[in-house]
Amino acid sequence: MTMTDADALDRSDPLAHYRARFALPDGVIYLDGNSLGALPRAAIERVSRVVTEEWGRDLITSWNRHDWIDLPRRVGEKIAPLIGAGPGTVIVADSTSINIFKLLAVALARRPDRRVIVTEANNFPTDVYMSGGIASLLGQGHTVRLAEAAVLPAAIRDDVAVVLLTEVNYRTGARLDMQALTAAAHEAGALVIWDLCHSAGALPVDLAATHADFAVGCGYKYLNGGPGAPAFAYVAPKHLKDLHQPLSGWLGHAAPFAFEAGYRPGQGVDALRVGTPPVLSLSALDAALDVFAQADLAAVKSKADALFDLFTAELRARCPGLELLTPLDPALRGTQVSLRHPEAYAVMQALIARGVIGDFRQPDIMRFGLTPFYLRFGDVFRAAEILGEIMASGAWDRPEFKQRAKVV
Ligand SMILES: Cc1ncc(COP(=O)(O)O)c(C=O)c1O
Repeated sequence: MTMTDADALDRSDPLAHYRARFALPDGVIYLDGNSLGALPRAAIERVSRVVTEEWGRDLITSWNRHDWIDLPRRVGEKIAPLIGAGPGTVIVADSTSINIFKLLAVALARRPDRRVIVTEANNFPTDVYMSGGIASLLGQGHTVRLAEAAVLPAAIRDDVAVVLLTEVNYRTGARLDMQALTAAAHEAGALVIWDLCHSAGALPVDLAATHADFAVGCGYKYLNGGPGAPAFAYVAPKHLKDLHQPLSGWLGHAAPFAFEAGYRPGQGVDALRVGTPPVLSLSALDAALDVFAQADLAAVKSKADALFDLFTAELRARCPGLELLTPLDPALRGTQVSLRHPEAYAVMQALIARGVIGDFRQPDIMRFGLTPFYLRFGDVFRAAEILGEIMASGAWDRPEFKQRAKVV
C-alpha cells in the first residue's frame, strides 16, 4: 500500500463526509476515540447556546422552557436505536460505574436465592470493583466469581444470580459472543448485564434480539459526548415493572416535586434517575448523537475493519517487534487495535510527540481506536508510517518519554 492507494480508498469511502462534522486539530491523527471521542461541531454550537441563552438568559425557567428535566429520557431515546433497544428502555444518568451499581442491585434483588456474581477476570476494573463493592455492602454472603473469557460458560452455574460482562474488552479489543453468553446465563437461571462502553456507537448491537436483561455504557467514547459525559442504562421491557434501585434520590421519585416524606420509585427507567442531571454534558451528548441519525452501524464497523486491515498490514511490514493482541477475525473484535511492546508507554509518548494520539494500558499495551466517522485511510496509513519510523530509529528511547503522567 502507498499513500496514493490510501487516498484512493478515502475518495471512494461512503462515510468520508462525516469527518466535516467534527472539529479536529490540524496536524493530529486522533486514534483515541475509544477513550474520548472527538468533538462534534454540533456540540460546540449547542453547548454555547445552552450556556448563553438557556442558562444565561432564561435561567431556572429553562428546566421547563427548554425541557432540561426530561433530557435524560430524550437522550436515552436517541441512544436506544444504536443498541437495539425499544422506546422507554434507556435512560442517561450518572457514570457507567454508578449505573452498574444500580443494575447489579436490581438484578441481585430479582435472584434472592442466589449469591454469585460472575464477571470476566480481565473485565474493566470498575465492573469488578463495583461487583465486589455491592457484594460486601449487602452483607448476605454474595461473592464475585472471576472467569477467563474462554471458561465463562463453565462458570455460569445454577448458583449465579447475575453475569456482568463487557462485550468488547478495553485492553485487547476482543469481543464476547453476547448472544451465546446471554443464552447460557438464562439457561442457568441468571440475569445478564452487558457493559457496552466499547460497543455503543462503534458496532451494531441488538439488545432486544440477544434478550439481554440490562446494559450500561458510556457517553464519552464512541458516542462523542465529551469528557465526563453521562452514561446510559438499559432495562429490558420485561424488567421495567416495579423497577427499584437503592440510590433513591429525589429525581428517581415518582413525583419529585411533590416532596413527599417517603420514597416511591418513578415509572420504568425513570426509577434509575438519582439526582439533578448534568445539563451541559447532557446537551453536548444530545447534539453529538445527531451524527448517528442516519448512520448505518454495520457500515461503520465494516470501515473500521478495513482501517484495521490497512493498519495491521502496514505494521506487520514496518514493525516486526510489535505483537498484535486483537483478534484478526472481525467478528471476534470491536474497533480498536491493541499492540504489545515492553516499552509501550514510551513508544506511545513518542508517537504523541509526532502528532499521532493513541493511548497506553498497563502493563505493555498500546491502544489505537479506529473511529470511522472522522478517520481517513490516509490518516491510518500515515500513523503506521510514523510508528514504523519511531520503532526503526529507536526515537522512543528518551527519558522524557518514560515519565509517567497521572493519567495514562
Ligand atoms: C468497559 C468500561 N466500563 C466502565 C468504564 C468506566 O466508566 P465510568 O468512568 O463512566 O464509570 C470504562 C471506562 O473506560 C470502560 O472502558
